[in-house]
Amino acid sequence: MPFISDTLARVKPSPTIAVTTKAAELKAAGRDVIGLGAGEPDFDTPDNIKAAAKRAIDAGKTKYTAVDGIPELKEAICRKFKRENGLDYTSGQITVGTGGKQVLYNALMATLNPGDEVIIPAPYWVSYPDMVLLAGGTPVPVVAGIETDFKLTADQLAGAITPKTKWFIFNSPSNPTGAGYSAAELKALTDVLMRHPHVWVMSDDMYEHLVFDDFEFVTPAEVEPGLYERTLTCNGVSKAYAMTGWRIGYAGGPADLIKAMRTIQSQSTSNPCSVAQHAAVEALTGPQDFLAENRALFQRRRDLVVSMLNQAKGITCPRPEGAFYVYPDISGCIGTTSTGGAAITDDEAFATALLEENGVAVVFGAAFGLSPNFRVSYATSEDALEEACRRIQSFCAGLR
Ligand SMILES: Cc1ncc(COP(=O)(O)O)c(C=O)c1O
Repeated sequence: MPFISDTLARVKPSPTIAVTTKAAELKAAGRDVIGLGAGEPDFDTPDNIKAAAKRAIDAGKTKYTAVDGIPELKEAICRKFKRENGLDYTSGQITVGTGGKQVLYNALMATLNPGDEVIIPAPYWVSYPDMVLLAGGTPVPVVAGIETDFKLTADQLAGAITPKTKWFIFNSPSNPTGAGYSAAELKALTDVLMRHPHVWVMSDDMYEHLVFDDFEFVTPAEVEPGLYERTLTCNGVSKAYAMTGWRIGYAGGPADLIKAMRTIQSQSTSNPCSVAQHAAVEALTGPQDFLAENRALFQRRRDLVVSMLNQAKGITCPRPEGAFYVYPDISGCIGTTSTGGAAITDDEAFATALLEENGVAVVFGAAFGLSPNFRVSYATSEDALEEACRRIQSFCAGLR
């Protein structure tokens, strides 16, 4: 009898973490590698947030807390949802977990039965399908390609819904494409969902604050209040406030669902870190200037990367609305051979050869459910980005 469970056979380790690890190993071995794999801001948590955490430690806020969040944080989250999304939640409709990741996982664990389907637009954040599998459900990826700017159309969504559909996972701006849905684009999807009352919406708004130009972020329950009763609006402080290591994510939704999620959390991890919760209160209620500064910085980087990648032979790089990723198409590179003699048969071969020959770490598209592409995270300095893009240009120029 195998010791490891059958459940584990259904999932794979995160490929994005694998790339980051491989790049770190090469660096440690003395190779000149630029990592464009990491999914986190490259700068530090703002000082006011760090100070709040220090105060919490000094005040002895170091014990167990309520399982899914301290009252102050839940209240701060309710105010955030009202202020930024026009959504009314009470504390009983809020849950706080160890990162957005745990919140999403709790929701799937609390609701999925074998055979339940979850619609996931592809390319998708790598964890969605595996979390669904871990929870015993069936992921249903639906490809939204470059021709629709990586956005799902109403017809595609309608075509994917079956009587077994339990959730539709919506992520805008998206990891890995950066694509953000306008209010009109999202309304087209919510109109479909209004015709299918058995389908719930899990909106992952993690990149809400990283939007560029005059793009306006919207979330499903805001665009279609008729969906409020069956929407879980998920968010967190990781990306917006450069707090990935603090591990605080949260969601607002119907009280019964939130209660079920609390039960899962109470028997697995209990409360998220007490000190980090106090830091998150400061993030959500303190000065917000940081967000606009971030946006401007990331927008400059996006423009740089999009422009330079579009000058690389065989690459087409759309200009996304948000997040800190681009997801170029490399159809023009497939079937070639690299300067180092590698056959570029698919995007994994491209990413491997690019790392080994030119020292740039990117994540290949197959990991996100749409090929041939790769994901660039531009959460790194402009100098590093410029050099990395030059190396990608030179790698592509050498393909024969
Ligand atoms: C789309 C998306 N959702 C959720 C998460 C999880 O964020 P957290 O660090 O809060 O667990 C990430 C992190 O990479 C993400 O990209």
